[in-house]
Amino acid sequence: RGLGVIVNMKDFEKFAEPLLSKVAWAYYASAGDDEITKIANGDAYQKVLFRPRILRKVAQADAKTTILGHPSTIPVFISPAAMAKLGHPDGEVNLTKGAGNTGIIQCISSNASCSLEEMSAARQKDQPLFFQLYVNRNRQTATELIKKVNALKMDAIFMTADAPVGGKRERDLRLKGEFEGPAGGVSEKSGDTKGVSQAMFAGVDPDLNWDDIAWVKSLSDLPIIVKGVQCVEDALLAYQKGADGILISNHGGRQLDTTRPCLDVLLEIRKHAPQLLRPEFRGPTGLSPAALEDPGRLTPPPPPDSKQERKFEVLIDGGISRGTEVVKALCLGANAVGVGRGFLFAQSVAGVDGVEHAVDILEQEILLALRLLGANKLSDLRPSMVEVKE
Ligand code: FNR
Repeated sequence: RGLGVIVNMKDFEKFAEPLLSKVAWAYYASAGDDEITKIANGDAYQKVLFRPRILRKVAQADAKTTILGHPSTIPVFISPAAMAKLGHPDGEVNLTKGAGNTGIIQCISSNASCSLEEMSAARQKDQPLFFQLYVNRNRQTATELIKKVNALKMDAIFMTADAPVGGKRERDLRLKGEFEGPAGGVSEKSGDTKGVSQAMFAGVDPDLNWDDIAWVKSLSDLPIIVKGVQCVEDALLAYQKGADGILISNHGGRQLDTTRPCLDVLLEIRKHAPQLLRPEFRGPTGLSPAALEDPGRLTPPPPPDSKQERKFEVLIDGGISRGTEVVKALCLGANAVGVGRGFLFAQSVAGVDGVEHAVDILEQEILLALRLLGANKLSDLRPSMVEVKE
């Protein structure tokens, strides 16, 4: 029984459900309140439609890129999701190995069920690893964690900012008391009455604020990405406060329900703070007058005032399960996208093989989308290749 029956990322979820315990399924699949944002995250990509170009020699195509300066075979990284051992006995180590074997980057959760040492040991030579930081309310504990991340030579810190307190995840709450508590990280052991999610946030500092970017930077030379940006004002503040990038995210809809889908935040940034995006992605979507003057040109030239002030990457996650969605996010200026649940389900179904199969599916879908769009590589993508329906 091979993995050939799994032909897209959504299939992993279908195959995982019957394999997972009630607690694991509830924890992985759940989101805040009525789960409206979780659904909206994915649905939002349907309002972005492609404008493919034809007859452009697409025999050769590749989907390689860099994320925060580190090579990645596809413009997709593993978004940090806690408790992979609820789905598979080897847990996050599956993600480390799968990422290493396929050349993508894992962002490790502060609440991983494997230790940082275990994941480091599973890492290949030169394999980049990002670390997601929940800042503990005990700053001494937080300091020690950051020092450990430095010592283990991780490559970036994603500071999660959309979870000063945990969201109300009702599927978890209905199973409260059935969960033993995570292995380590910032949370406290709790076989109590809070459910998995609430146990995760027990140690997180709800007073985390913009000055803490400088605080983390005082403890680490690693690039700092603010995870959980949900409006253009906060994207600008992240830049001003010295972050090296943002991850537009609403935690997969698991925090405040009925927030906007992440794609809308990217569109808002394009509209009101295009300077945060790379120059060639600042233009309008759809047809531009310049394209009619010179229709054979693959892509319009970047605007003349295009020097990038400072390296700053705009990443996005939430609801992404298709290569076409990855490509849409890139046409709209994202440097790369994160996938959370998809990889959790993939490792639950088939461990390392599942992760590798997931990367393969995404890579094939991305290459197909590139070719059918008339592009050979990611740097060919432009806003003119999509139109955004109001
Ligand atoms: C998460 N997410 C998350 N984020 C974070 O910063 N720290 C964490 O420990 C976790 N844990 C976690 C557990 C589970 C089960 C899920 C589903 C998600 C959020 C995650 O990083 C990411 O933002 C979303 O998962 C992206 O949405 P999709 O791809 O799951 O739709």
